[in-house]
Amino acid sequence: MGTKSPMEMSGATNLMSGWVRAFAVEDCPVGEVREVIVDGQILAVAHLDHGFYVLDGICLHQGGPLGRGTLVGCHVVCPWHGWMYDVTTGCHSASPTVKLSTWPTQLRDGAVWVALRRTSPAHGHDDH
Ligand code: FES
Repeated sequence: MGTKSPMEMSGATNLMSGWVRAFAVEDCPVGEVREVIVDGQILAVAHLDHGFYVLDGICLHQGGPLGRGTLVGCHVVCPWHGWMYDVTTGCHSASPTVKLSTWPTQLRDGAVWVALRRTSPAHGHDDH
């Protein structure tokens, strides 16, 4: 019934551990995907029967909003041209080497928390 609009969250960050409170559990029912913006980062959240998965919300094809796509089994389907990614791995369904970043999640206090550490080796970053 409701429209899919990005949920913007900025508070409740536990920077010591890297875990960030992303959204309330009831904001993403089982079988659906949502776009969530956490600390300025666009994420796609998928709720499968057995839990939540968080991956990069920007499609690697042409930047489509994956969080506004649909969930088919364990795959999110990009709303622009239909590329499909396994939400449990971030891998493109036909070309597994094409891979989105993913982040671990945990449930706490009725909310989903995301470990927003960089897990993709593709993102080189200078550390001083
Ligand atoms: S932008 Fe996602 S399939 Fe083209």
